[in-house]
Formats: sequence, structure tokens, C-alpha cells
Amino acid sequence: MTDPRSAAWDTHAHTRPQRRTTNAKGETTWFNWTQHPDHGPGAEALGLKPGDSVLDLGCGSGGNLAHLATLGMRAVGIDLSGAQLAKARERWAHVDGMELHQSDALAFLAASATSYNAIYSVFGAAYFTDPGQALPAVHGRLLPGGVFAMSQHPPVEGCYGCQASYIPRGPDEDPAIVKRWDHPPAVWTGMLKKHGFEDVTVTVLPAPEHSRRRIGTLLVRGVRGSS
Ligand SMILES: C[S@@+](CC[C@H](N)C(=O)[O-])C[C@H]1O[C@@H](n2cnc3c(N)ncnc32)[C@H](O)[C@@H]1O
Repeated sequence: MTDPRSAAWDTHAHTRPQRRTTNAKGETTWFNWTQHPDHGPGAEALGLKPGDSVLDLGCGSGGNLAHLATLGMRAVGIDLSGAQLAKARERWAHVDGMELHQSDALAFLAASATSYNAIYSVFGAAYFTDPGQALPAVHGRLLPGGVFAMSQHPPVEGCYGCQASYIPRGPDEDPAIVKRWDHPPAVWTGMLKKHGFEDVTVTVLPAPEHSRRRIGTLLVRGVRGSS
């Protein structure tokens, strides 16, 4: 049976344009943790070097993953949505070192025997999966010293735990609904530590000063210890 969440995310894919051809610096690939263009830290947050392996949970149309592949990483992306992956395959066909799979994040992590130097998720599957299940599954597939990082919206004060996200379909249709998980930074810190992550940092990056959009970005990062 088809996962109803994949149809919801296919809808999202059809309403979103492909990533711009170049960013403000004129680069053809780049890493963006936030929902604002040309803003925030880049791939250095993952602590990777050429030849390292990296997994993107909910890679969407693959822009961040393609950047890591061009830097020389073995870049694996998974996504529930066939439409998102079709966009990634079309846009990044010329990029070597990029591997894409259609899967639920938890199912992929449970079935995979591979461990990674870094696992990340940009407004991706880690936002839309219960962290009580996602964090131990991610920790179990990181190499010692490997980094996990994820970004998403900061929580709305008082709206914590599992929340509903509405994906617009059309003027005469109900929106698709998916679940997401929001927590304040201190709760994320405690959850990562509970599941064995070290050097945990949780920050809210403010929106760019010049933007009329004022919502910042929550960036969560932790390291699997060396033992
Ligand atoms: C808001 S989009 C972000 C896509 C991409 N990371 C980006 O920054 O453009 C969320 C993505 O997560 C994927 N996703 C959501 N839940 C997932 C899950 N449980 N397993 C795998 N992918 C999932 C969706 O299909 C969608 O492509």
C-alpha cells in the first residue's frame, strides 16, 4: 500500500520551483540550512572531508546533497516522495557521487548496514519523524565521531511535541496533513544527550536583517562519541 505521506510530499514537490541556477556568490551548488536564500552556515557544520560518506534524510530535490557530492563526498539521499526524487535526478544528472533512494527515513536506517561520517536533514525527514525513534536510529548509523545535524522552524511558544503541518493542494481540495515535531532548544539538547550524542549545540539562527520574513531557523547538532 502506498504511504499517504508520500502523496502529500509529491504535492509539495509539484508546487515548489527547482533551486535557482546560481546563488548570490555565483556558485552553481551550495549548502543552505535555512529557509532564507544566501543565509546561515554552510556544509562546514558537518565536519566532512572528501571521500567521507554522508546521508541526507528527506533530501527533496537534492540541492544540498549535490553540493556535498561536488565537494567529493559519497552523498546518499533518501526521500519518501517520488516526485521530489524525480526533480533531483533531472536537475543533478551530471553530478557524480550522488545516490538516491525512495524510502521512509526510519525504514532506511533500520535496513541499512552502512555507517556514515555525517547524517543530516534540512527541514526534512528528521522534522517529520518522532525524535524518540529518529535519534537512536541516526546514532546507530553514524561512525564514531560522526556528526548529526538538522534544521527546522523554531517552535511556536507553547506548541510543543507532535504538531500538524498542512500542505496546500488547491482551492477546492483539503490540504494534505503530515506530522512534525517541535520542541524548545533545551528539550532538543536533553533528547540528543539522552540518546548518546556529545558536543550538542542547539541554536536559533535569526532571519536575515533585510528580510520581511522574520522567522528564524532552529539548528540542532550533535556528535557520536568515539567509542
Ligand atoms: C520541506 S521538504 C525539504 C526538502 C529538502 N531537504 C530541502 O531542504 O529542500 C521535506 C522533505 O522531507 C521528505 N520527508 C518527509 N518525511 C519523510 C520521511 N519519513 N522519510 C523520508 N523523507 C521524508 C519529504 O518527502 C520532503 O521531500
